[in-house]
Amino acid sequence: MSHPTTTDRIRIFDTSLRDGEQSPGFTMSASQKIAFAHALAELGVDVIEAGFPNSSPADFGAVQAIAREVRGASIAALARCHPGDIEACARALDGAAAPRIHAFISTSPLHRKHKLNMSREQVIEHASMGVTLARNRVDDVEFSAEDAFRTEREFLVEVFDAAVAAGARTLNVPDTVGYATPAEIRALFEYLRANVKGADGVVFSAHCHNDLGLAVANSLAAIEGGARQVECTINGIGERAGNAALEELVMAMKVRPGYFNADTGIDTTRLLETSRLLSRITGIQVQRNKAIVGLNAFAHESGIHQHGMLKHRDTYEIMRPQDVGWPDSQIVLGRHSGRAAVADRLRQLGYVLEDEQLDQVIAAAKALTQTQHIIHDADLQRLVEGERYGPGW
Ligand code: KIV
Ligand code: ZN
Repeated sequence: MSHPTTTDRIRIFDTSLRDGEQSPGFTMSASQKIAFAHALAELGVDVIEAGFPNSSPADFGAVQAIAREVRGASIAALARCHPGDIEACARALDGAAAPRIHAFISTSPLHRKHKLNMSREQVIEHASMGVTLARNRVDDVEFSAEDAFRTEREFLVEVFDAAVAAGARTLNVPDTVGYATPAEIRALFEYLRANVKGADGVVFSAHCHNDLGLAVANSLAAIEGGARQVECTINGIGERAGNAALEELVMAMKVRPGYFNADTGIDTTRLLETSRLLSRITGIQVQRNKAIVGLNAFAHESGIHQHGMLKHRDTYEIMRPQDVGWPDSQIVLGRHSGRAAVADRLRQLGYVLEDEQLDQVIAAAKALTQTQHIIHDADLQRLVEGERYGPGW
């Protein structure tokens, strides 16, 4: 970095409703998209990418409704550098308080040859035309060079120069197929900031896919290289293996303030409920061990960890569960738990036992784990109250 001494504002561009929604299994109805857009605005994202209006009448309608209803964030809509797409975006965004048209074209040699069948010059012409048309309709235009990471660097600079000259305010650099490594993406952003004409007047943006599980790491490295907008999704949903997970990115910056010196404006206490709303809408749960919002994110079962946690929570937690919306951490009693955790749980349940009784309950509780994974409060109560040992307790 770009490890600035003053805190830098990193803009959060959420594309759950576009890149996320267009992936298999995550399709949403218009009313679900609207509800989720409201939740994103409450979460405090800067930009909500609401959809791709020219892709279907349903998408057009959802973008239009979000643009009319949702306040507190810019509303973006995606367009290829085609007049029809730009026109559809402008019409769908008509009611928005802060509309953004997001125009894109592929720039990599592979995409130019096999997808677009265009020369470099044609790509530049289209980029320039798309941004110009968009700027004729709205002030806030973002330009994306699809597959930017696999594009020749010098050519990428030429395309971005043309987009800036045509009026783009944000230059998005997608790692469309999730191929980058953190060091490479950081170097690419440093190179672009040093070489694009007018770089100081635009915001550079990272859009990382997760094909190698590196989307969040790459987005953070892009910030180190000078990106000041990151494109991400709740729960990391998105094409193929997904996009960078918003909750992970935001918490990495929050938990390591000295490292990133970055502020996102996100109300992190809403992360869990926003994640859960998305799961309810799509019917797809996050995995148990998902960072921040998975069931195990603040749960501790092993005896050594539980003992440490009971003495000082910083031993095994780097953030407070309440900071991301959980009521508290969870000490889960199971096969790996130790005496200290069982005794503590019993105390919380109101049972202060003599050593001998405690040993018996612990032994009986451990025996339960031969047939069940978790020792529940009800199990402990039953054991102490003597269902197993008789009323003599
Ligand atoms: O991954 C990608 O390249 C995209 C662009 C359309 C921004 O989603
Ligand atoms: Zn994408």
